[in-house]
Amino acid sequence: EQDAPLVVAIDGPSGSGKSSVSRRAASRLGLAYLDTGAMYRAATWWCLDQGLALDDTDAVAAAVAAMPLSMGVDPQAPTVHVGGTDVGEAIRTTEISAQVSAVATNLAVRAELGRLQREAIAEQTRPGSFSGGRGVVAEGRDITTVIAPDADVRLLLTASEEARLARRAIDVHGSADAAAVHATRDQVLRRDADDSTVVQFHTAADGVVTVDSSDLDLEQTVDAVLEVVRRVSGRT
Ligand code: DC
Repeated sequence: EQDAPLVVAIDGPSGSGKSSVSRRAASRLGLAYLDTGAMYRAATWWCLDQGLALDDTDAVAAAVAAMPLSMGVDPQAPTVHVGGTDVGEAIRTTEISAQVSAVATNLAVRAELGRLQREAIAEQTRPGSFSGGRGVVAEGRDITTVIAPDADVRLLLTASEEARLARRAIDVHGSADAAAVHATRDQVLRRDADDSTVVQFHTAADGVVTVDSSDLDLEQTVDAVLEVVRRVSGRT
């Protein structure tokens, strides 16, 4: 007989390693993977593609409500489509990174994407879904607190500012030398500061387990996360 579905919620700031860690943890657990940050990025791409001013909150909210978004939840190859367009690469540009907070701080957008996120998580608890009903690892900024506060396992992935900036510099510039860290510093810190005005993701809410990845490499962080999943859910 199959186990009950497992829902794992992971939050953390940029550069905490959340996405890589969540994907690998999902693969190892045989679960689907939902990248909610990618949904905010896709919404930003969609609004810019339509020539909207991102500070026009009503127009942005209306556009996002009509966005034909489709999230592929295979942790080995997650995809993001808007209508027929694969936006997987387009949503990772520095242009999108620099502007996504304007959309992520729009409360009507959060309500709409939050609804889609809850639906996507619920879908993976059903037998006909990608995970076969085994469940999902969902990651973002407000998954442990707002989107899935009743998840089986809730984790906050943190890392020192130094470690986060170094990782982001490697992602963006392929190097963590002083110049690369400097180039990403303002962007990363400003985005986290902007995002923090609407969601709180720097300290763990009640019942949320913190994993600090500052001194861990990717594999060690995945192992630490899986250890928490085992301990909290009683699954292996
Ligand atoms: O994790 P990321 O860098 O891909 O996230 C993109 C943006 O979306 C970032 O500005 C934070 C925001 N975000 C959010 O507000 N809530 C979430 N659940 C996920 C991301």
